[in-house]
Amino acid sequence: MSVSAIIAAAGSGERFGAGYPKALIQLGDRTLLQHAIAALAPVVDQIIVAAPVGFEQQISQLIGDGITVVSGGSTRSESVRKALAVVTGEFVLVHDAARALASTDLAHRIISALQSGSTAAVPGLAEVDTVKSIDAQGRVTATFDRSTLRRIQTPQGFSTQVLRDAHESGKEATDDAGLIELLGGQVLVIDGEESALKITTPSDLNSALSFLGFNQSYRTGVGTDAHVFGEGRALWLAGLHWPDEVGVEGHSDGDVAAHAICDALFAATGLGDLGSNFGTDRPEYSDASGSTLMQQTLALVTEAGYVISNVTVQIIGNRPKIGARRAEAIAAISKALGGVSVSVSATTTDGMGLTGEGKGIAAVASALVYKQ
Ligand code: CTP
Ligand code: MG
Repeated sequence: MSVSAIIAAAGSGERFGAGYPKALIQLGDRTLLQHAIAALAPVVDQIIVAAPVGFEQQISQLIGDGITVVSGGSTRSESVRKALAVVTGEFVLVHDAARALASTDLAHRIISALQSGSTAAVPGLAEVDTVKSIDAQGRVTATFDRSTLRRIQTPQGFSTQVLRDAHESGKEATDDAGLIELLGGQVLVIDGEESALKITTPSDLNSALSFLGFNQSYRTGVGTDAHVFGEGRALWLAGLHWPDEVGVEGHSDGDVAAHAICDALFAATGLGDLGSNFGTDRPEYSDASGSTLMQQTLALVTEAGYVISNVTVQIIGNRPKIGARRAEAIAAISKALGGVSVSVSATTTDGMGLTGEGKGIAAVASALVYKQ
């Protein structure tokens, strides 16, 4: 059996408010229309896109050869009717570009229902809210039995002849299945998909991004460290050796920037702190360099399922002067952390406190991470 697909993409996207047609809105790596096409292409023989008037050529160029573009109408039904005129398949799926994330599997299940003898099959989800109807004054006139209600989605599948008859009836409905119902035809509802939501507003786009795995839940952490200067010690700071500077006391290399960053990462991921991970019960880390500790921290954070979005560190002290080696410091920290985005800044404290008195160096770091 041959199956055609109509993608209704001719709306203006008023409620979304992008200032251009909704089908052309970008969702991740492609437009809503391209998502919809990619989902249906594997299971249909012909695709027809109803494009907004004036955007036909732009859309043709975007989606490439092999897909028919027709000019849409002023209502969704009219757009579908215009596309229906060039359908060649025995069966037809009618799909909204706005339901960009409906899956190939959903389209496949609709086609299976048609193959099993249904002349109209649509996806639907259970209603979770109580639905009431109201009068013009906002007073409730009826409460529906929620268990019998379904929220209907697309793609909707039809025998092409049945859908043509329905569209020729001249009746109006808010979806294609509705036209069939008005003529007394049977419509089968199969399980829909939460991800097949209709993208109407920017907040829906956000939900769609979440379905694609964007919009991770982010976590932040801060970390600080301070060490006092120690004559005769080499200075290591931000993963770099500073040859003409006085170093700081402490075991390890005393790299306060690296230590603050590790603490910020442990705080963000809830994995404890520098002491609990590399402290006295882990003697192998007692002389570890700042770079090694950052590498080890990255390994622990990754093992716990987190990805580092970025880290920042501010070095607080009268010396060394950071500016001239900022790019080097960023590169060294980023390398130790697997290439993440890093920023390094520096400040003095106006002669006050530990580092202002010139006794040592401190650092404050922040980290942003998300769960893989
Ligand atoms: N549609 C269409 N032709 C129209 C109106 C709508 O093909 N004249 C399509 C839309 O492109 C969309 C689907 O029908 O893929 C569902 O419509 P809707 O979500 O309402 O999209 P828009 O009409 O673009 O949005 P709005 O109502 O906010 O303007
Ligand atoms: Mg609309």
